[in-house]
Amino acid sequence: MRKEIFEQPTALYNTVHPRVVKGLPDFTHDGITPGFFKDVTRIQVVACGTASYAGLIGKNIIEKLARIPVEVDIASEFRYRDPILDPTQLVVVISQSGETADTLAALRLAKKQGIKTLAIVNVAGSTIAREADIVLYTYAGPEIAVASTKAYSVQVAMMYLLGFRIAADKGAPMDWCCRQLPKLLNAVSYLPHVLAMEPEFFRYAEGLKNAEHLFYLGRGLDYSLAMEGSLKLKEISYIHCEAYAAGELKHGTISLITDGTPVIALATQRKTLGKMISNVKEVKARGAHVLLITLEGLEVDPECYDEIIRLPAVEDEYVPLLLVVTLQLIALGAANARGCDVDKPRNLAKSVTVE
Ligand code: M6R
Repeated sequence: MRKEIFEQPTALYNTVHPRVVKGLPDFTHDGITPGFFKDVTRIQVVACGTASYAGLIGKNIIEKLARIPVEVDIASEFRYRDPILDPTQLVVVISQSGETADTLAALRLAKKQGIKTLAIVNVAGSTIAREADIVLYTYAGPEIAVASTKAYSVQVAMMYLLGFRIAADKGAPMDWCCRQLPKLLNAVSYLPHVLAMEPEFFRYAEGLKNAEHLFYLGRGLDYSLAMEGSLKLKEISYIHCEAYAAGELKHGTISLITDGTPVIALATQRKTLGKMISNVKEVKARGAHVLLITLEGLEVDPECYDEIIRLPAVEDEYVPLLLVVTLQLIALGAANARGCDVDKPRNLAKSVTVE
């Protein structure tokens, strides 16, 4: 797993660079010509687990950049809820393995209703890749560890590329479109720096050795990351963990915070920083032990945390690529500290080919 975490800069390079032509994402080699997305009115993303959390980042990014609605469904729910689909929408399925039973069933359901399908898949020739109308391959290379790491990052990268492309197809000004990609590449260039912060992440994770419960908090993109960070931690370290939208805490969950409860608060989004910090103060006042993860240069009240990690200051939309590495390494550090087999966590298979 650690090896795969450290392969993320290469995986991202391999996935993004072949698709950049004159500063814009170009999917011509994938069978998508410019203008393809012009008449798409909305997008339905369907996936499972980590892939669905990549879809949540996609919702945030594509809605913001391209201003079309994006829904994200867990495949096992989507397929049994008689979803309302229409021919002007695009169904996007995301799957590292391309073999996940529920995601495949969702794809088939959409196709049966005559809806155009696009699959984001890492394994060439997999069933989902063969059956979807269009395939966008991610080039993460083989992912062997059960916990998905580099596959998530390249799925997220694909969400940005799709967002830029859809925006361009829908008539966004060319100079605006050309300014987006460098922001993504700039964030990717900081990845080696974040990977080198591993000892800092492990130091914190060591303190989780005897933890039974932990809360991840965030708002907006940070909330989507909180879900991914929480899944990773549960999956390999067996610490019970909940991801919460920070604004929801006072609607019930804050009652679980007692003296010493570990909380990881993600506070990287400038737009909601003030609100987030006041939520963090609420848990701190109830005795939580808070690790605050924020960006260099953002002003935060030192009273609201016990420990702090600062990541390179990139634009809000591109923080997920750096933040996820941090959360993966915290999960890995905690699992190591607890003596867990990180590559083969109990009860789990790499590819879930049954319902
Ligand atoms: O192969 P897929 O991307 O379709 O797999 C989906 C999930 O089973 C997978 O992402 C799972 O959640 C990971 N093991 C989590 O790390």
